[in-house]
Amino acid sequence: MDAIEALMTTRAVRRFSDEPVTDEELLTCLAAAQQAPSGGNVQPWQYVVATDPELKASLGELYRKAYDRYERVLLAGTPAFRSEEERASWERTSAASRYLADNLGSVPAIVLFLLPLIPWTPSDDEGPMDIGPLYASVYPAVQNFMVAARSLGLGTALTTVIRIHTADVLELVGAPAGRFEIAALVPVGRPTGRFGVAPRKPALAVTHWDRWGSKRTEV
Ligand SMILES: Cc1cc2nc3c(=O)[nH]c(=O)nc-3n(C[C@H](O)[C@H](O)[C@H](O)COP(=O)(O)O)c2cc1C
Repeated sequence: MDAIEALMTTRAVRRFSDEPVTDEELLTCLAAAQQAPSGGNVQPWQYVVATDPELKASLGELYRKAYDRYERVLLAGTPAFRSEEERASWERTSAASRYLADNLGSVPAIVLFLLPLIPWTPSDDEGPMDIGPLYASVYPAVQNFMVAARSLGLGTALTTVIRIHTADVLELVGAPAGRFEIAALVPVGRPTGRFGVAPRKPALAVTHWDRWGSKRTEV
């Protein structure tokens, strides 16, 4: 598949068929993730791939608990919408997110992207240097994984709400306590719906050419 087409149609997929995902497919996506850039090429991530039904069910329970808590806040503060279209999109995302929370335990595969808690802010005589957060060195890998999955016809969604229960997740998978954060939890499977281009602001609406405020309506 053409790279631009894969990128344009990689969007959050939260409803999956029962068809399994093979270990070979997962490894192809993980190999693509390995090629992502990272600060100083430190490649600071570890993956935990969950395909064992019992483990997935336990992760699913923790995810639902986390999402239940988050959803209470989300629904209490429904944003002001600029259009009916925006409202409909928000409602679709909320419903799909709820669906994932209720069904995560039975998706074909779950991949956890773990980030070690390592010091990442160098200092010199002038003080600490902001060279960017360590997170910036893991999300490119997550996106590589998701685009590679798309190219194989697999759907994914980048999720982070499970971080509410990080300690429980680390214990569940047997990872060293207190040594990692969860950068992302990504469900993987074949979508029940079709891939498409998600609605976004046009690139030109947020692009400044040479100087701030110098925008174009076409190129
Ligand atoms: C940092 C981050 C955290 C996210 N956390 C969650 C999550 O916990 N649960 C969830 O269902 N989706 C989560 N999402 C998915 C977003 O809702 C989704 O990317 C966004 O709505 C755009 O969806 P679309 O590409 O289908 O338009 C997260 C996305 C990002 C980038």
